Amino acid sequence: MEIDSFLRKLPKVELHAHLNGSLSRSTMLELQRYYADSGMTDNMNAFFDEFEMAAGDPRSFSDCFQVFRIAHNLTTTPSALEIALFSTLKEFQDDGCCYIELRSTPRDTQYMSKRQYIDTLVKSIRTSPQHLTIITRLIISICRHSPLADAEEIADLAIEFYKSYPDIVVGIDFSGNPTVGSFKDFVPALSRAREAGLKVTLHCGEVFNPSEVQEMLEFKPERIGHGTCIHPKYRGTDETWVNLCKSRIPVELCLTSNVNSKSISDYDSHHFKYYYTAGIPLVICTDDKGVFSTSLSHEYKICAETFHLEPSKLAELSLKACDYIFAEDMRTKVKEIISNFVQKNC
Ligand code: IMP
Ligand code: ZN
Repeated sequence: MEIDSFLRKLPKVELHAHLNGSLSRSTMLELQRYYADSGMTDNMNAFFDEFEMAAGDPRSFSDCFQVFRIAHNLTTTPSALEIALFSTLKEFQDDGCCYIELRSTPRDTQYMSKRQYIDTLVKSIRTSPQHLTIITRLIISICRHSPLADAEEIADLAIEFYKSYPDIVVGIDFSGNPTVGSFKDFVPALSRAREAGLKVTLHCGEVFNPSEVQEMLEFKPERIGHGTCIHPKYRGTDETWVNLCKSRIPVELCLTSNVNSKSISDYDSHHFKYYYTAGIPLVICTDDKGVFSTSLSHEYKICAETFHLEPSKLAELSLKACDYIFAEDMRTKVKEIISNFVQKNC
């Protein structure tokens, strides 16, 4: 089997994908049509070209965080949110993804509250149409540049929905522009969620901030996202790297996101190679496949080409990712799906 086809067919696990950053051009067009059909013309101005950030885009790292407004403008009602969800899940499924932990930040909009936002996602996932066979779980995000009161409210809602729907809501995420806000301030909200049973993933070390990286590693989240500035060669310190190596916290790596947002200069220089060589648990993810025009199989292909990994090693990466799934009851099932494929094709 040629590599593109192998990587698309390889059952894969997506553990770091933001819903609003994952909207494709065709999903956005579908959402535009929905708003037009509903007579809500204020949402017609979707600047698709501005949403996508290709390699070499002149915008800065912080500018990336402005583009999400374009997607947010298209997911303001429960129906639009459901369209965005189903369309995005279908795309991940068509790309060979068999299990996804999708994350999203609940927002109050003109047409729904944060509670309705979560309720819509949870109920839509539970009642997904038959053609969606991808196993889906939800991670609720807290944004580091939102007021603390919002974070507390989201933590409360996450706990409430986790208690009612433990089959869907599995974790809490800390994300947003890393140059704004301080992790310390959000520890009480995140700790409450964790004490209630939610697993925690933190966007960690996206920019130079070794003291915050230390605080995050000491918090002992179940996973971290990116982990860019942890190794001393990558604007981290000996201490942060040793801490990560000791703690063996799994890292969600998003290569194209890092390159296109300019936190890493090119694929060859990506920290993947240090993590892979050091045996740090890692999982290849997309982050924002709409913004960065990528797919999970494409991310695997970049790894294959840049770091010269054979198909069997790529299959191994997909299989290992199962151990870091938050929904522990799903690990064996997802492993079986991948193993069956590997036995027949590797
Ligand atoms: P949403 O949570 O579904 O609305 O997805 C978009 C949101 O995810 C953005 O507004 C950011 O808060 C967050 N996000 C997306 N990509 C990144 C990233 O690379 N670092 C930190 N936060 C991110
Ligand atoms: Zn992210």
